[in-house]
Amino acid sequence: MTDPTAQTTSAVPELQLDRVAKRYGDNLAVRSITAEIPAHKVSVIVGPSGCGKSTLLRIISGLDDPSEGSVSFEGQLVTGVPEGLAMVFQDYSRSLYPWMRVDKNVAFPLSKVPKKEREERVREALEAVGLAGRSHLYPWQMSGGMQQRVAIARALASRPKLLVMDEPYASVDAQTRGDLEDLLLRIQRQLGITVLVVTHDIDESVYLADHIIVLSTPPSIVAETIDVDLPHPRDHVTTKTDPRYVEIRSHVTQLLRHRELRAVEDAS
Ligand SMILES: Nc1ncnc2c1ncn2[C@@H]1O[C@H](COP(=O)(O)OP(=O)(O)O)[C@@H](O)[C@H]1O
Ligand SMILES: [Mg+2]
Repeated sequence: MTDPTAQTTSAVPELQLDRVAKRYGDNLAVRSITAEIPAHKVSVIVGPSGCGKSTLLRIISGLDDPSEGSVSFEGQLVTGVPEGLAMVFQDYSRSLYPWMRVDKNVAFPLSKVPKKEREERVREALEAVGLAGRSHLYPWQMSGGMQQRVAIARALASRPKLLVMDEPYASVDAQTRGDLEDLLLRIQRQLGITVLVVTHDIDESVYLADHIIVLSTPPSIVAETIDVDLPHPRDHVTTKTDPRYVEIRSHVTQLLRHRELRAVEDAS
């Protein structure tokens, strides 16, 4: 028998997008996005380059306003950066301060937290990303993948409920990317946080996601949402040869190739 309490909890979306549209001058970037991001899961927004993924993340994070529609985080309308939300950007090299050692970089957003707790959180966060013992290094002494782990640690140090990532692994090599994907899955399951990742990479979307939101060509709408029922823990060999993985991957590929989708959905 199912536990009714658990059902109620999981039924409340962490994040709700209601007919979000964004216009830059004459350019309609996002037509209308309605979507729910479930709590304690990994959701992935996948779509072609230029379809408005970064725009959507900025709106979700309260860094930009929608032209129409609204975003709610835990039932509250988002009007500024919500407490409990942390963001990791694609360009980690620009998000870290080169003159600060790793521990100072991670501690940087925690200036209001008392020193002892701050140090504890930094230690925890670095441990979570496998960088315990590297806190004395400078970012320029680290590989790209390690720098991105520092950026993730910094986001985790704020103990977010929702971790938002914009193409976080786009600038690292394939091997490192695979390792970072596994790291993210492990952290998400350890901490039980809600994760929202944006990517244009179909493999990454299926591998990471419990829930995929496929966007159309711009101006974007939701082409389809897909629940990914692949078992955890996942790994790059077993998961990616699972017939269900192959099936979902093909389906997402088809959706993204289907350029006419936009016109069909115009009426909605
Ligand atoms: N600050 C901005 N000012 C004007 N146009 C923008 C701005 N940000 C994004 N755009 C436009 O909005 C569209 C979507 O961009 P973006 O959200 O970066 O897409 P994606 O992240 O999916 O590649 C593009 O046409 C882009 O040129
Ligand atoms: Mg982008």
